[in-house]
Parts: sequence; structure tokens; C-alpha cells
Amino acid sequence: MKQNTPQAMDDLLIFDTTLRDGEQSPGATMTLENKINIARLLDEMGVDIIEAGFPIASEGDFTAVSTIAGIIDNAVVCGLARSSLGDIHRAGNALKQAKMSRIHTFISTSDLHMQYKLQMTRDQVLEAIYKSINTALEYTDDVQWSPEDGTRTEHNFLCQAVATAIEAGATTINIPDTVGFTIPNESAAIITMLKERIQGINDVVISTHCHNDLGMAVANSLAAVMAGARQVECTVNGLGERAGNAAMEEIVMATRVRSDSLPYRTRIDSTKIIPVSRMVSDATSFPVQFNKAIVGKNAFAHEAGIHQDGMIKHSGTYEIMRPTDVGLSESNLVLGKHSGRAAVKKRLNELGYDIGDNRINDFFIKFKHLADRKREIYDGDLVTMMRETSSDNTEDFLQVKFLKVICGSESPQTAELHLDVGGIHHRVEANGDGPVDAAFRAVSKVFSHEAKLKLYQVSAVTQGTDAQATVTVRLEENGVIAVGQSADTDTVFASLKAYLSALNNLIRQRNAKQIYQKTSPSHA
Ligand code: KIV
Ligand code: ZN
Repeated sequence: MKQNTPQAMDDLLIFDTTLRDGEQSPGATMTLENKINIARLLDEMGVDIIEAGFPIASEGDFTAVSTIAGIIDNAVVCGLARSSLGDIHRAGNALKQAKMSRIHTFISTSDLHMQYKLQMTRDQVLEAIYKSINTALEYTDDVQWSPEDGTRTEHNFLCQAVATAIEAGATTINIPDTVGFTIPNESAAIITMLKERIQGINDVVISTHCHNDLGMAVANSLAAVMAGARQVECTVNGLGERAGNAAMEEIVMATRVRSDSLPYRTRIDSTKIIPVSRMVSDATSFPVQFNKAIVGKNAFAHEAGIHQDGMIKHSGTYEIMRPTDVGLSESNLVLGKHSGRAAVKKRLNELGYDIGDNRINDFFIKFKHLADRKREIYDGDLVTMMRETSSDNTEDFLQVKFLKVICGSESPQTAELHLDVGGIHHRVEANGDGPVDAAFRAVSKVFSHEAKLKLYQVSAVTQGTDAQATVTVRLEENGVIAVGQSADTDTVFASLKAYLSALNNLIRQRNAKQIYQKTSPSHA
């Protein structure tokens, strides 16, 4: 890799919002345990600021932010808050245990948002900015402010709002491209304008937060950096609202590979990029697109004969970075039938999973079981098994006890299912158009629901006919999206578990909504 001399490099802060904006992605809900593992790995890999959640949004978000605040050693832990004082107090309280904390407060500044969403005048918005930052400063001296829909905000008012935020004491000014509307030269021009027109701008960090609706989030972020932004808000795998946010791995590797034109240094240990990508994909059940830059399965694969020939002669012919730079080992075959508990635990730690003594016992039993059926256990298998042994599974409303399917060239195919529904055992049989359909119909016979199947996707975790199949199921019920993912060497059983996992997620979302509506009537 080309590297610039350190003297010529400027530091670029990485603000990761996977656990906040990323989780806002429809269907991407994560458990507390998932969030803790991800936060730990983000901290270990050198992320500067971790936005851990939106504490006013739900009990779960508050707990996640306060738990993460209590365990993170190096990064600043940040909580999001609207400009209302209730939000700020909630965020401040959630962050109390953090070694270093930041409150990130925001309010819309575009005419469209102020008129229709907030129904506030410009003067009222300026007053809210001042008050919210002042209140946030009671909890921490590290306060970030964002004008929501900033890139579509009228320029004079944007400057007025930013100046107000700086005067109130904000230490970071973040400019969001909330709807992914901007283009690179415009993104740069906004930062240049702020630098030219606002007094005191050089005393704060300018940040950029770009959404990917037109596929330009990374380009827009880098353009803002070239114009003077020194913090990039991004997410692992580009997760985030709608088309997502700027992908952290792309920002980091672009500045590294093209340091000749992008002389910015991040603190990120790039060899942790693949582990964190897999962990986030697994936690959210969002598969990574095969041709996704840096972390997709095909990102380092060379199929075309002419490319393979070049690669054999010199890897630089078709590779601009080495797979090992991002944490992809040549062969990630790690373990097998004879591997011991310590070796399994060590590899899990290397993959970013901090697994306790009780949990490793459970995990090891499943590991041995898989190793009996499958000779070679790869990293992908271990990551998948971590989800399968997640402690949350024991609390699931729907739990499969037994499945037997009869399938083949003669239809109908039939499924016999033993399913615990809210602790009550049921035995049911169903026919279907194929074994998966039969298994899903059996579930519907004992647990009726309105959810529509929006996605059913099967992929192999590793290679070979004995590979585990990972199945992703996405359901929708009255606008609520729930995703489930599961893996097994038996594709039909993996499909059933993924379907039940999505239904369990849906039930959890229904319950959380009910509890929240009961305890917090004023919050929409
Ligand atoms: O996209 C956006 O505007 C946001 C803000 C809360 C920063 O996520
Ligand atoms: Zn956003």
C-alpha cells in the first residue's frame, strides 16, 4: 500500500453510528448482547466516537447506551437527542458512566422540514438550538450539533444556525445529508462556505454525515473532508436508514489506499474490518451484498481467466489492496473435530467475541455437534454459531423442538413439527409445495399471524456440500419489518429456524411497542 509521510497527514476522526443510524434501518434491530459485542470491537479497532443509540427512543436504547457507556475504554460514547430538553436529559443520564461522553443534539433547519415537520419558525429553531446545547453542556463539555436536512437548508440560515450552535458552546458541527440528495462538489462547497463565513468555525470540528440514496455517500463524505471536515460519520457495511450511510470500511480504505490524494489518517486497525462486518451482518441478519466494496464475498475474488493469470504473476495487477489488509486470511480454516475448548475460545476472541465461561460450555457442545457432521469449521461457521447459541433464544415465544420432513419428486411434501408456543407444546403436520413451504405452513397452523413473507434467501456460509446454509427471512406486518436468520447443514431446518426467528423478532417488536405506549404516552 502507498503511504504518505506522517507529517503530510491530517487526523480524521471516525464517528461510527452503526448502533444508532444503522439500527434505524427497517428490520435491523439488534439485541443488547449484539450491541455490546459490536461496541467492544469498534473500540478495539480504533473508532474515535461510538454513537450507541437514541436514549429517548425506547427503554432498550437507553439501556444499550448506558451499558455501552459503562464498558468502553478508549472511544467517546455518544447518545443522540432531539432539541427537546427531555431528550437531552435522557441522553445525559444514559451517558453518566462513560469515561468520555458526547451528546449529539439535532434539529431540522431546511424550510421544508421546519414548515411541515416541526411547524416552527426560523427564530424558534434558533432558540431551540441555543437552549438544547446549553442543557447538554450541563452533562458534558463535548456537545455535537447537527442541522437535520442540512444540505437542503438555505445557506444564509444554515450559517446563522451553525453560528448560533458555536456561540452556545457546541464543539462539533455535523452537516447531515439526511436524504442523500447532495453531490460531491456541493458537499465540499457547503463546508468551504461554513469555513469562510462563520467566525469561530476553526475552533470546532466539522463533521459530515451522508446517506446513500443516490449511491454517493462515500464520495460526498470524502469531498467534505477534502474541503475541511475532520470527522466522518459512517456505519459498518453502510447500514442505515433507507439506502444506508457512508460505509466505514470504504472511507477507511479509500484514505489508506489513496493517501496520495487523500492525506488523512484514521486510527482504524483495518485488519478488524472483516470481523466487524461479519459481526454486524450477523447481528442484524442483513446479508452483505456479494460485490460490496471491501467486505463483499467477491471483493477479492478473481474469476476471469485473464485476471487470474495476472494475479499469479503479480497480485498488484488486479488488486489495489491485500485481502490481509482488511482481515481476510488466505485460508480461514481454523478448527475441526479434535480442536479443544481453549482453541475455540481463542479463535472467538480473535473474531471479536468475548465469550464467558458458562457460555463457552454451551457453545462447545454445539461446536462438537457441528464438527461431527462437518469436517472443517471455518470462521464463518463460528460467527454463525454465535448467533445460534445467543442467550436470548431461550426467551423466544416460538421454539422448535423437532422437525421431520418428507420430500422428493412426488408431491405433496409433508412436515411434522413439534413447536412450543408461549411455553405450550404442540405437535402438528402440514403439506406444502416443497419441504420449506410444508414446514412454514405447519407453523401457521399453531401460530396464526398476518405477517407477509417479503424475502426468503439461502446462501452457503462456506464451501462444500456439507456447508451450513444461512437462510434469511424478512416479514412485514402492518408496516413493521422483522428479519430472521439462521444456519444449519440442513437447509430446510435452517429455513424453519430463520422463519421462527423473524416471527420472534416481530413478537418482540409488538411487545416493546405496547410496553412503551403504556409507559410513555407522550412520546410518538
Ligand atoms: O441523517 C440525519 O440527519 C441524522 C441526524 C440525526 C444526524 O441521522
Ligand atoms: Zn442519518
